[in-house]
Amino acid sequence: MVSNAVIMQDAQAFNFDGDYGEIYEDLAHKVIPGYDTLFPATLALMMERIGMYAHVLVVGCGTGREISVFAPHAPGWRITAVDPAIEMVRFTEEVAARLGVQVQTDVRHGYVHELSASAQFDGATVINVMHFLRDDGAKDQLMQSVAARIRPGGTVALFDLHGDRKAPYFSLFYEAWKRYMTLRGYEDMAKESLLERLAAGIAYVSEARIMEICAHAGLQLVRKYWSGLLYGGWLLERARAA
Ligand SMILES: C[S@@+](CC[C@H](N)C(=O)[O-])C[C@H]1O[C@@H](n2cnc3c(N)ncnc32)[C@H](O)[C@@H]1O
Repeated sequence: MVSNAVIMQDAQAFNFDGDYGEIYEDLAHKVIPGYDTLFPATLALMMERIGMYAHVLVVGCGTGREISVFAPHAPGWRITAVDPAIEMVRFTEEVAARLGVQVQTDVRHGYVHELSASAQFDGATVINVMHFLRDDGAKDQLMQSVAARIRPGGTVALFDLHGDRKAPYFSLFYEAWKRYMTLRGYEDMAKESLLERLAAGIAYVSEARIMEICAHAGLQLVRKYWSGLLYGGWLLERARAA
């Protein structure tokens, strides 16, 4: 098993088995532009693409946001969720139990590459996960592991914090993001702590590099569907066999 410490930019900065899960919900709503509407929008697109009866992979389920939005609205979906942090797995299992959607959901402790290589999902979401992985092959490995388990013509929704740190826009957008946090009421110690974690734990890459990682994995861009400060969301299709 590849450990978090090996593949994450800095596993200590974002310790999902530590206190992060507890604070994530409040943080996500205040810090991620459009967090409340991102998941229904992703669901709507996925439903258009893969229909009401499908097998969907949720990569990095964290505090169960995908399950809580997707499962009640898509009762014909079977959802397999994976996360390498046991605390996050428990969190998601509790969300599924509270909503009464356990019958639809299978929450696994581990990584995508540990799922059976013969698994063929209709779709997958990779939301707020890839930005934690180093661009030393780890981002590629993640997207290749996902793509290999999506049927040809299937759909992947990728949402990630990103940007070219050398580009003139980056500091403008980063400073604006810090200001956005304050405007949203995310301040003081919580904000300072988050900024330290972001500085250590996020492996930013440009949008062009993200598209390259996806293309190498056999994922073709359908359309960018989300953009908010340094966050972006891309709808991708697993290449059909020639
Ligand atoms: C910020 S949370 C995102 C949770 C959820 N997708 C959301 O957007 O609300 C990131 C999650 O990704 C998980 N994670 C970290 N590395 C991963 C990897 N290589 N594969 C899958 N999940 C990973 C973490 O344990 C954590 O639960």
